[in-house]
Amino acid sequence: MPQLREPPCKIESMCGIVGYVGRPKSLEVLLGGLRRLEYRGYDSAGVAIITEEGDLVTRKRAGKLSVLVDDLAAEALTDGSTGIGHTRWATHGGPTDVNAHPHLSRDGKLALIHNGIIENFAELKAELLADGYTFESETDTEVAAKLLGREYEAGGGLAAALGRVVVRLEGAFTLLALHRDEPLVVVGARRNSPLVIGLGDGENFLGSDVAAFVEHTRRAVAIGQDQIVTITPDSVTVTDFFGTDVEAQEFQVSWDASAAEKGGWSSFMAKEISEQPEAVANTLRTRIHDDRVVLPDLAGLGEKLADIDRIVIIACGTASYAGMLGKYALEKWARIPVEVQLSHEFRYSEPVLTPRTLVVSISQSGETMDTLMAVKYAIDAGAATLSICNTQGATIARESDAVIYTHAGPEVAVASTKAFVAQIAALYLFGLHLAEVRGTLSGDEIAGALDELSSIPGKLEQVLLTSTRIQELAKWMSDSRAVLFLGRHVGYPVALEGALKLKELAYIHAEGFAAGELKHGPIALIEPGQPVFVVVPSPRDPNSLHAKVVSNIQEIRARGARILAVAEQGDAAVLPFADEVIPIPLAGALFEPLLAVVPLQIFAMELATAKGLDVDQPRNLAKSVTVE
Ligand code: M6R
Repeated sequence: MPQLREPPCKIESMCGIVGYVGRPKSLEVLLGGLRRLEYRGYDSAGVAIITEEGDLVTRKRAGKLSVLVDDLAAEALTDGSTGIGHTRWATHGGPTDVNAHPHLSRDGKLALIHNGIIENFAELKAELLADGYTFESETDTEVAAKLLGREYEAGGGLAAALGRVVVRLEGAFTLLALHRDEPLVVVGARRNSPLVIGLGDGENFLGSDVAAFVEHTRRAVAIGQDQIVTITPDSVTVTDFFGTDVEAQEFQVSWDASAAEKGGWSSFMAKEISEQPEAVANTLRTRIHDDRVVLPDLAGLGEKLADIDRIVIIACGTASYAGMLGKYALEKWARIPVEVQLSHEFRYSEPVLTPRTLVVSISQSGETMDTLMAVKYAIDAGAATLSICNTQGATIARESDAVIYTHAGPEVAVASTKAFVAQIAALYLFGLHLAEVRGTLSGDEIAGALDELSSIPGKLEQVLLTSTRIQELAKWMSDSRAVLFLGRHVGYPVALEGALKLKELAYIHAEGFAAGELKHGPIALIEPGQPVFVVVPSPRDPNSLHAKVVSNIQEIRARGARILAVAEQGDAAVLPFADEVIPIPLAGALFEPLLAVVPLQIFAMELATAKGLDVDQPRNLAKSVTVE
């Protein structure tokens, strides 16, 4: 039994980090990078720069990045060739100017920024206080800055000093630091928190993710767990915490800076919903040849794939609903038992894992701490691991034996949309490949399913055309206090996702139910006027679920529910009982969720918009939940 690893921290933290060394334009690079990382969520921002004259200058402000930008416009900061920038989500100490990063060493020559939480900061602070140090802020980060300053004085240079500091830290962290005595150097370290290198020409970059520097370079290098990086204008060195060189792999960012811009859309969410046909098409592209699935991505699993006897899917939130859909497909096509577990519950349930178990993690960001810890648990237990991930070089992808990247492009809005459909497409590709490996489907059956899958992008285009009607509905319903979502079989995860989208975006109480469960309790919630979305299976469904769901609709309609049905085009049986029918194109049963989820996403977005809410950055939420 592997040991449970202690969670690195108990509260959510996000933060954006940018580092730059190269030409005397640091401020522009840092502010541009921080702007692209804004989606991560933050409540203060700051920069530190080593000027051409060799001075260390800083500026930091509570509030949005625009507050810092206005401040810099009112009173300029001298630019330089070396800098670090940070957006902070308050954890230790409120979102104030003083608590914002960077923090300085005692002599003011060194600046440090930090993402994550240093759990043993109180103990380290006590040590420094006893040594005569004083502190301005309430942060754990200032402790790391003072500690690093003290270590620097002990000699050996900045990277070596950082190595001596990080081995003393407990928790999760990405740290970046610079020192005026090493004017063309930025160092960074990471543990359980992301950091990526951007390789330029006579300049190099660091960022929480590639969005921080993609407008300057698409050449990137992911930094492994417990590693230190040193960048200068012409060199990049990666070592472990003890200074031993490690090999780092370069990769090409597959999207350009314009993909992470709104491009005329009212919100990233609107843009990303509209990009779903492409997200699916790009995930399928190059992976279907001659009616077969070709997945060189699985090479890392070697012979293990043919030998697995069970699959456990782990994921959180929207990704877990994609996982539920994966279960239906994998069990049907590859005839292998599949269970789906929330990552944060997984390792506490003492799961039975053997070398023949394949643990499939699903994560858009590839940095979700709950999922990362679950993957590590699976690795320690000797299971084979596969990740389905949207972010190249992300930690979860790197930790796993193999990764199938979804090619949804950068997802900036906090609530997930296009990553969800891309995750389903990737799972279905995997399911059909596994069916071939296990001989559970004939070549014709696989070809038929691949035809269905390949037709999804075109059908998604058709679904997107219904958005005007859904917008009207959302406006009418903007004062709803609770909305219910029902589905059966593959419609059930869609109902759960519809409810999650409405909670996240519009802050409306929403519940998703398996329609068969209604009579076991939830039907008591139905009262006159209660809006209920129903994901209706196709009338062609071989299991006769269509008739059962239509009966459910009648039951709740009789009790006054207002029925909004997402149903196959031409489904005449639903019409008499629904207040509104949102049509989706015909698709095979397993493929309907890829279409049915879209009206629910649009509904949540439009209702939130009608309420005047920020659909890209809903309250209290982070895009990438990098702590437990
Ligand atoms: O990056 P991940 O896919 O691992 O994130 C998992 C969840 O945190 C994420 O899907 C979350 O539920 C979203 N807010 C959903 O919109």
